Amino acid sequence: MSVLGIIAALHQEIASLLQAMGPNVRIHRIGQRDYHEGTIMGRPCVVVLSRVGKVAAAATTVTLIREFKVNAVLFTGVAGSLNKKVKVGDVVVATQLLQYDINASPLFPRYEVPLLGVSHFDADSSLSAQLQQCAQDYIYQDLAIDVDSASRETFKLYKPQCHTGIIISGDCFVSDINHSLQLQQDLPAALCVEMEGASVAQVCYEYEIPFAIARIISDHANGSAHIDFNAFLEQVARFYSAGILRRFLNH
Ligand code: ADE
Repeated sequence: MSVLGIIAALHQEIASLLQAMGPNVRIHRIGQRDYHEGTIMGRPCVVVLSRVGKVAAAATTVTLIREFKVNAVLFTGVAGSLNKKVKVGDVVVATQLLQYDINASPLFPRYEVPLLGVSHFDADSSLSAQLQQCAQDYIYQDLAIDVDSASRETFKLYKPQCHTGIIISGDCFVSDINHSLQLQQDLPAALCVEMEGASVAQVCYEYEIPFAIARIISDHANGSAHIDFNAFLEQVARFYSAGILRRFLNH
């Protein structure tokens, strides 16, 4: 059976998945990360906390591919919205990913990864369609059970939506409205911003491994992003991420 690599940048996002792996899990410590090898709902998988940022995510992805021979990679976590239609509590499933902070112009076109000749990395359409279905099912069926009504009220989670589109990544937590507006102007198709996805995508592209990425919107990448982020992570995102993945594994 094929092996699935599952990555998240923050502990809360995979804590309950690790619990679900039960006592037969084998933990391999490589490069200061714990790779949890086992099964969830009968499906072989390796679950790992990458920590935050593009280098951390890239190093983790390489290890999953080379040491554990994973056949596909899934990444879930939170992101900041860059689009008025994308609200806190919504989910974005990536069609493509781009590193907004790579810029070797005028030597190479802006956003292009030098000598690779690519700026946008395509997520696997079949895995992404499954992930999107799982996110939608989670929102409609499980969210109100997992997240208490006070938290749903706090974050105005009335009718969260699932979007598909471009996710951009860079080594910066965007919490300045001017930075956010600049990104929106430079990359108008981007739905949200985070700090890992495009580096996972680049490594998967280089090794020809299919991948999919789902991001739950925790904030609007503006001056209050850090406040919204922490509360959302504790009260909401830790349920969402694991809930969507559990549905995926149950398929
Ligand atoms: N992840 C969640 N919110 C983010 C933000 N505002 N910037 C970068 N990564 C994020």
